Amino acid sequence: MTADLERLFPAADDIPAPYRLDGTLEQREFLINGELVEWEGDLAPVRSAVCLRREDGELEQCVIGSTPLLDADAALGALDAAVHAYDLGQGVWPTMSVSERIRNVENFLHRMKEQRDAVVRLLMWEIGKNLPDSEKEFDRTCDYIVDTVNALKELDRRSSRFEIEQGTLGQIRRVPLGVALCMGPYNYPLNETFTTLIPALIMGNTVVFKPAKFGVLLIRPLLEAFRDSFPPGVINIIYGRGRETVGALMESGKVDVFAFIGTNKGASDLKKLHPRPHRLRAALGLDAKNPGIVLPDVDLDTAVGECVTGALSFNGQRCTALKILFVHRSQVDDFLDRFKSRLATLKSGMPWEPGVALTPLPEPGKTAFLTQMLEDARSKGASVVNEGGGNSVGTFFYPALLYPVTPQMRVYNEEQFGPIIPVVPYDDLSEVIDYVRNSDFGQQLSLFGRDPQQMARMIDACANQVGRINLNAQCQRGPDSFPFTGRKNSAEGTLSVADALRVFSIRTLVAAKDNAASKALVGSIIRDRESTFLSTDYIF
Ligand code: G3H
Repeated sequence: MTADLERLFPAADDIPAPYRLDGTLEQREFLINGELVEWEGDLAPVRSAVCLRREDGELEQCVIGSTPLLDADAALGALDAAVHAYDLGQGVWPTMSVSERIRNVENFLHRMKEQRDAVVRLLMWEIGKNLPDSEKEFDRTCDYIVDTVNALKELDRRSSRFEIEQGTLGQIRRVPLGVALCMGPYNYPLNETFTTLIPALIMGNTVVFKPAKFGVLLIRPLLEAFRDSFPPGVINIIYGRGRETVGALMESGKVDVFAFIGTNKGASDLKKLHPRPHRLRAALGLDAKNPGIVLPDVDLDTAVGECVTGALSFNGQRCTALKILFVHRSQVDDFLDRFKSRLATLKSGMPWEPGVALTPLPEPGKTAFLTQMLEDARSKGASVVNEGGGNSVGTFFYPALLYPVTPQMRVYNEEQFGPIIPVVPYDDLSEVIDYVRNSDFGQQLSLFGRDPQQMARMIDACANQVGRINLNAQCQRGPDSFPFTGRKNSAEGTLSVADALRVFSIRTLVAAKDNAASKALVGSIIRDRESTFLSTDYIF
């Protein structure tokens, strides 16, 4: 098996021409105040998830480029540019009409689409995502931008009228909050980052954006599009170590909105640095340990199919992945057999290979971390029940179906964020309900069953614990028009296309007594187009 895994990694010459990189990509530019500035200081190497086989047969994780290792001063320079562009709400961008801001975002989208191939290729190399999923990530992000534009048009149309209540007339609009700091995760370095970045921008905020820890170079092909599509200082893109750069930004107290997708520990540490916490809005997507719960009366084919994709899409590196499976004891043997057979059909290989499902992992030390988790569980009585499960070579870790998992094992509560599938047998549903109630996480769960009474009991027991309950389906974020949220340590705030516009804005209203003098005054402002806010312009 180990030799088979070794053979997964190619020699440089084996890589198909369309997916090769042209040498290493040394990036020195970062975007600040509308200019691509060259960084003269140190660079951070960018390692690929992919290892290459050298001529002597040894595997080597390849370095595909480097990015600027900015220091705190440079990061603070980017923040100052954003603060200046916002200009206490009087900058060009926050005072621009909604339709003009939409035009800027549409220009950006047009330019972004030209970079599809370059971004998709880097998604494969940097984080090991397979080709169809990398393409899907890119296309889904473009769709998200289009949907965001449409949602904003709808929102603006609703705000273009006056309301009269109890002798008061008023116009209510959503306006920006200030300077947003946006940071995304490495598993969706494009999509999840843009689901906060684009709403933040389009609502009139100015932004400092720091790309994820992996999936950094793939932002490079978009820098010119960002530079040319927005006024100077509206979007600033920084690189470097989080502690040094982002820590300084938060300590400055000049960040008004903190949009972060990552660990709850990272989010808490950064939030604590802000000197005026009550002035900081946060939109956070954090850790999760979503359970898949297989009830006694179940269609096992459906359950196994959904659990395999739910636990192993992108090697389990999704916040929404099924990270622990509770299977009723009456079904568990059959479930494990079918899961093993299905798992054995998944093709392992490099991200660009046709039909590949299991790919190398980008995080340094990840295979060792997963191995330790397995060892801990084995030492406490669990076994890996699929052939080759838990074998690893280089950056590749073959999925391990682990059974029987008990509360004493690390993998019972800790998020593995990788290809380990822990299975816990249970006899009574109350055991599973206790797990959900006592978990530190509360993003989603999946219920697999056919008995209406049992399903209803579980829905009611869990509805106040998690943000979404999936029936006979894996956990997932989409469709993007549905609320994406979580409780406990899993999230703060709600994201969806429409919700995100609200997260990055606040309602302001202009109100007056409903009398002739007010009507004359307001009528004159509107007729003569004296104000951007007070206006009945309708976006078609
Ligand atoms: O990593 C968390 C993502 O938001 C999950 O999105 O369910 O579409 O894979 P997904």
